[in-house]
This record gives sequence, C-alpha cells and structure tokens, in this order.
Amino acid sequence: MPIQFEHVSHTYSTGTPYEYKALYDINLEIEEGKITAIIGMTGSGKSTLVQHLNALLLPEKGTIRILDRTITAGEKPKNLKSLRGDVGLVFQFPEYQLFEETVIKDVAFGPKNFGASEEEAVKKAKHALSMVGLPAETYEKSPLELSGGQKRRAAIAGILAMDPKILVLDEPTAGLDPLGTVSMMSLFSKLNREMGKTVLIVTHDMEQVFKYCDNVVVVENGKIRTHTSVQEFFADSSLCREMNILPPALIRMKDLLKEAGFRIDDNIQDLDRLAYAVARQVKKHG
Ligand SMILES: Nc1ncnc2c1ncn2[C@@H]1O[C@H](COP(=O)(O)OP(=O)(O)OP(=O)(O)O)[C@@H](O)[C@H]1O
Ligand SMILES: [Mg+2]
Repeated sequence: MPIQFEHVSHTYSTGTPYEYKALYDINLEIEEGKITAIIGMTGSGKSTLVQHLNALLLPEKGTIRILDRTITAGEKPKNLKSLRGDVGLVFQFPEYQLFEETVIKDVAFGPKNFGASEEEAVKKAKHALSMVGLPAETYEKSPLELSGGQKRRAAIAGILAMDPKILVLDEPTAGLDPLGTVSMMSLFSKLNREMGKTVLIVTHDMEQVFKYCDNVVVVENGKIRTHTSVQEFFADSSLCREMNILPPALIRMKDLLKEAGFRIDDNIQDLDRLAYAVARQVKKHG
C-alpha cells in the first residue's frame, strides 16, 4: 500500500503573530519498497511534510494514509506508539533526538520501550551502532560528548534499533565526512534492497538522489512542484535548471558534451560508459 497524502495542509502557530502556512493542499502518493528523495529549497516545507508521517506534526486539513493507518485532521491519532515503531523518523537536528545518559542507553531505549528485555535491547543497540559505524568506545559516553557526525550516527542507530518498516531520514548525512556519507547511503540502500524497507530521504545533495534514489519529490513553497522517477528527473538538466537545482556532475558533463557536438545516449548513467562513448567518437574522428 502506498503512503498517501490527501489534501494535507499545515499551519504553524495558528492564531499567534508567528502564524505560518507551511503546507498547502498536498496530494502525494509515495511508493512502498522504494527510496524516495524529498528535495527543494531551504524553507520549502520538506521537514514539515515528513514529520506528518509519524504524527509528530498533525495535519490541519486532510488525511495521511500510512501502512494500515489513517491520520485525519481534527482527530487524535490512534496507536501512536505502534505507528512510531513502524515509521522511524530521524530528525534534521539529531541533538533533538538524543536524551539518555549514554549512547548505548539512548539506542537501547526504543527496543526497551517496545518490550524487549534489557539484554535483548542492548544487543539490538550494539548491532545498530555497528551498522552506523560508531565504535565501541563511544557507547558509554554521553551523547553530548559526541561530535556532530557521531551524534547523527547515534540518532540513526536509535531508529534502526527499532527495525521500523519505513525509514524517514531528514538530511541524514549532514555533518558526515565524504566517506561516512557514502557508507551511510550504502546502508540505507542495503536496508531497502535486502530488507524491503521503504526509505524517504530529505536531502540537498543531488549526487545522492541520482545515485541511490528511485523517485524524487520536489517541494516548493509548501506545495508539490514535481513527483517523478529519478531517471526521468535527470534525463537531462532542463528540469533541474527550471527549478534552480544544480544537476549532478554526470548530467552537467553530458550536457556540455552534447553542446560540444558529441552524441550522448540518454541512457548513459555512469562515468565509465560516458568516457567510453566519448573515446569512441574521438577515435572515429581523430
Ligand atoms: N515551529 C515553527 N513555527 C513557525 N514556522 C515554522 C516552524 N517550523 C518551520 N516553520 C516555517 O515553515 C517553513 C517550512 O519549514 P521546514 O522546516 O519544513 O522547511 P525545510 O524545507 O525543511 O527547510 P530546510 O531545507 O532549511 O531544512 C519555513 O518557512 C519555516 O520558517
Ligand atoms: Mg528541513
């Protein structure tokens, strides 16, 4: 069953001087079992949108259908705890998510809260911590002692330890070094491919969208501007440019080569095949 938003709108701080309408009549269907990127300019409403998926924010109008649950405007959501077990949300700012005395207690909190014994919870926590690449010497530290990238990893581990069906990741690689980014994205990709997890990733990084995601949703001023496959989105750079988004390097390079007179097949999606196509044409004319 897909995840559906039907006529969802959201206004912050209604009735105060800070009132702000962040989402307008959103209609959106997100495929299960895929990796979907949520992109758009800063302040466009991406975080607001994804926080509706586990009822952290509630719709002012409209309905959200997720797994076998329905969240409807004006109604108190039912079985909130079980929803949050099934839909794991990693916040944009990980420090909002870490609250226990030590890293290991923090990551074990979720499984314990869902009925695991102390021993089982710690086992699950250690497994999740190793998946995100946090070394054992950090386990007994306070989350406050961690670096930004380590906090990010600990927050992700806290969600993975609960083994949710749907993973919602709000800028999960912000603050990670380039190698850390690749290993984290590979982990999400593996969880999707091997365990069938549905993954939603809010990101500003088009290289990640191009390399790891199946579909892309563009949010603009609280509305859905486009929702399409990644392949279609990056078929050439025109859609990106229209939306003020810098396309991935490979797409920019393909466009430059086309402008220079090379014939470049739209299906070429990696550097090796691009280099081969160019080399063949150079040889022919050289
Ligand atoms: N608690 C709040 N009260 C009032 N306005 C808010 C609140 N949180 C967010 N907003 C406003 O809602 C709009 C959308 O914010 P949101 O955080 O969803 O954007 P975003 O697309 O995630 O941006 P970024 O890429 O910077 O994370 C912004 O204009 C923001 O100022
Ligand atoms: Mg955000």
